[in-house]
Amino acid sequence: MIIIKNPDQLAKMRSAGHLLYDVLQKVREEIAPGMTTMDLNRITDGLIRKGGGIPTELNYMGYPASICASIDDEVVHGIPSSHVVLKEGSIISIDVTLALHGWQADSAFTAPVGQISPEKEKLIRVTEECFWKGAAMALSGNRIGDISSAVQSHAEANGYGVVRDLTGHGIGQDMHEDPSVPNFGLPGHGAKLRGGMTICIEPMIAMGRWNVHQLSDGWTIVTNDHKPAAHYEHTVAVTPGGLPELLTFPGAVWEGKL
Ligand code: MF3
Ligand code: CO
Ligand code: CO
Repeated sequence: MIIIKNPDQLAKMRSAGHLLYDVLQKVREEIAPGMTTMDLNRITDGLIRKGGGIPTELNYMGYPASICASIDDEVVHGIPSSHVVLKEGSIISIDVTLALHGWQADSAFTAPVGQISPEKEKLIRVTEECFWKGAAMALSGNRIGDISSAVQSHAEANGYGVVRDLTGHGIGQDMHEDPSVPNFGLPGHGAKLRGGMTICIEPMIAMGRWNVHQLSDGWTIVTNDHKPAAHYEHTVAVTPGGLPELLTFPGAVWEGKL
């Protein structure tokens, strides 16, 4: 069942989203060779709590940390560790969910560690472009498949693989609500979008093939071919008649993104 949010509820989700934006902006600045993913976990956890929020990944289905930190061939759900030291030339995907006054926000990005190859730069750029192309379809009257196919087309036009085992999702008082928002699919298919729906659009794009597997830690998702992957996610509100609102990206500018 898709839960439509009223303006008061959307205002609470906006507050949660804006807190998460501020947190992720600060965390991004901390990414540097020599840092560990546990350092990033500690910093993020502290910033969330300082802002009055709760890190809702911690203990979610037994997940042991407040962020997901996934490096290179790790697609998502990498568990922070004091033994994982960031190395120049790597890319790191950070995915964080928090709750503020009972309402969730979920956002992720992939960033370079120091200088990276042009190939990795392009992967990050195209993954973000996939998000924007999908988000631009999050219009009242469109369908979920319009988002999915926009993401898929742009990734595949660049020769990349679209990870299929994980999807975007609805979000609200729960981290994961209906509907599922796949990054592949057909235009005109799936649930119809309407104002007050809140969804996470989160392309997970692999430089090589899309096939992935889970490590024995029970969480980390890795590409089978061990080529790098990138992730980009925002919490998006469908509006009654206008452009979508990016709840985790205040001041987002559409110009030049489409
Ligand atoms: N933030 C994730 C999502 O985009 C969920 C993370 S799984 C967890 O849906 F175990 F870390 F919570
Ligand atoms: Co997320
Ligand atoms: Co999500």
